[in-house]
Amino acid sequence: MKIKICIAGVGNWGKNHLKTALSILPAEDVFVYDSGKNSDDLIKLGALPQNILESFDHLLDNREINAVVVATPAETHYPVTKALLEAGKNVLVEKPMSLNSAEAEELTVLAERKNLKLMVGHVLLYHPAVRKMKEEIRGGRIGKLQYMYSNRLNLGTLRTEENILWSFAPHDVSIFQYLTESMPEKVTARGAVFLTNDIEDTTFTYLEYPENVHGHIFVSWLHPFKEQRLVVVGDAGMLVFDDTVKSEKLKFYKKGFRDNQGTFQKFDEDYTPVEFPEGQPLATEQKSFIENILNDTKPLTDGNHGVMVLKILEMAQQKLKENG
Ligand SMILES: NC(=O)c1ccc[n+]([C@@H]2O[C@H](COP(=O)([O-])OP(=O)(O)OC[C@H]3O[C@@H](n4cnc5c(N)ncnc54)[C@H](O)[C@@H]3O)[C@@H](O)[C@H]2O)c1
Repeated sequence: MKIKICIAGVGNWGKNHLKTALSILPAEDVFVYDSGKNSDDLIKLGALPQNILESFDHLLDNREINAVVVATPAETHYPVTKALLEAGKNVLVEKPMSLNSAEAEELTVLAERKNLKLMVGHVLLYHPAVRKMKEEIRGGRIGKLQYMYSNRLNLGTLRTEENILWSFAPHDVSIFQYLTESMPEKVTARGAVFLTNDIEDTTFTYLEYPENVHGHIFVSWLHPFKEQRLVVVGDAGMLVFDDTVKSEKLKFYKKGFRDNQGTFQKFDEDYTPVEFPEGQPLATEQKSFIENILNDTKPLTDGNHGVMVLKILEMAQQKLKENG
């Protein structure tokens, strides 16, 4: 089978998908469709003039295109993905998969029924440093997992349909799911609105997992500098992933307290950098989408993973509402 892919939605993020697809597949196999951009703009971004689709119906009716990346605004993910699946296309939909878990479940069932791949763009699970973190945790390097936190802060793009929780936190929730392999038993959240009516700019979410594993997520698009830091603490050591630095993105700290017959002794060594393989997360994500289609394998971030992430976001959203 030959993969012919279409990038639907070539905005700020979709243009990265287009560039990536053009680096993986021959240009004649990469199509684009954007309801709000003219051909000149799309050609400037690298699209071949003959591969620019004029309408959504042209995309649905094109029998050659068997894979579509949906990088349109979040509120369109459900109707666009549903129509594509119904037309027999495999879909990689950007995060958040949809704006509620019931719609996401419906999409997952539809994809399964039609034997199509449905994947969610939780790109950090394709980041080699996050993969390495999981390997280190599994290998026992930090001992028993105790708590983890993620800060995702920036002077970011203001969104009007989804709040910061739904815009940024899908990444962090998907990483927590990946690392813990379990659902949180309790989720609490608080947030604040500073700019747009009823749209939280800043949220704090606290998650309690089985076996006394805790996590918190702090996301904001009102922050003086970009911070993307993930800290994972175990009883034998700690891992820190900082995606904003150029080198030593992943560090291991042999720090903590050892129980010595009832008294706690501190161990506090300097960090060691943790090496991980090179790799562009978005390219790995798209390649994985293509391989899943060609080999009929299950995507790491499949519809069920996407639904789980949305269910956790909904629990947090409910708490935001209750907490005013
Ligand atoms: N995975 C990540 O790290 C990451 C990063 C940024 C954004 N995103 C996600 O990507 C999506 C797009 O975000 P963005 O910042 O690029 O938004 P954007 O507004 O810059 O771009 C959206 C594009 O989609 C087009 N569009 C709108 N409705 C359409 C439709 N029905 N069919 C076809 N085209 C349509 C618009 O004309 C626009 O060009 C969002 O869901 C966002 O959450 C993901």
